[in-house]
Amino acid sequence: MSYDDKPKAQLRNVLINNPEIGQPETIHHGTRIIAIANQKGGVGKTTTAINLATGLAACGQRVLVVDLDPQGNASTGLGVSEYETDVYDVLIGGADLTQVICASNIPGLDVVPASADLAGAEIELIDIEHREARLNNALAPVLGKYDYILTDCPPALGLLTINALVAADSVLVPLQCEYFALEGMTRLMKSIERIRRAYNEDLDIQGIVLTMHDGRNNLCRSVEAEVREYFGDRVYRTVIPRNVRLSEAPSYGMPALVYDLACAGSQAYAKLAAEMLRREGAGPIGKAAQ
Ligand SMILES: Nc1ncnc2c1ncn2[C@@H]1O[C@H](COP(=O)(O)OP(=O)(O)O)[C@@H](O)[C@H]1O
Ligand SMILES: [Mg+2]
Repeated sequence: MSYDDKPKAQLRNVLINNPEIGQPETIHHGTRIIAIANQKGGVGKTTTAINLATGLAACGQRVLVVDLDPQGNASTGLGVSEYETDVYDVLIGGADLTQVICASNIPGLDVVPASADLAGAEIELIDIEHREARLNNALAPVLGKYDYILTDCPPALGLLTINALVAADSVLVPLQCEYFALEGMTRLMKSIERIRRAYNEDLDIQGIVLTMHDGRNNLCRSVEAEVREYFGDRVYRTVIPRNVRLSEAPSYGMPALVYDLACAGSQAYAKLAAEMLRREGAGPIGKAAQ
């Protein structure tokens, strides 16, 4: 399967007519910048960035994904693989972000890609003035052009993640239900608190999404109960199940929602997009998210 098999309009229809997502109802509330962050690797940040962005775009939202991980998995997973400049040139070289934006094959979804160059940025940023606000300043020209900007953070609380948190309105935390999940959250919450005090007092928690969930696993269920008790309604009701289709899709350069819309993982991300929009009152109201 390739994108060429499905003209854009048809793809848009397939996504939008999914009853789980509902009909699009674009209510522009200004650009909302969401950092997808967790200092732990392999918890589903990139998978969430790719598929949540696709779900939001399918709901008629204009979405920009900013890849902040030197591995560039969000870029390739969204089918963006050929580019001359990337987010490194923006953060370090001062390139104009608008010159670096690539269109994805998903209508309404653009990408600022990352390459391996970004691995050096953590160190190079140290000597740059306003090093923590480089992304925040670079995003200024595109505010108002998108409904959502999602930043896919690397698995560390270094300067790249700090740039994402300083630029963000809120943080979305993918959390895997396993031992030490809450300890990791405590560290992340402390970092968020520090960013609030120093740079961005309005930084909010967008929500916590449980990923790679397995309801038959006792540990998973007990960690989920603990996380829900501690964080209350900040935890999305929608959970993302462990689903092999979600891990296959990136090798085809496609979001799972395009690769296999019917699979449990895609349906969960579609519901998550609907739940997020519903919570913000931006519609549409997905049946399954009520
Ligand atoms: N719900 C899921 N079910 C199965 N595999 C998943 C799921 N979410 C992520 N994965 C896989 O787990 C690995 C880590 O996920 P990824 O999104 O890259 O995490 P992170 O960005 O936090 O490092 C990837 O190989 C990804 O395809
Ligand atoms: Mg990642």
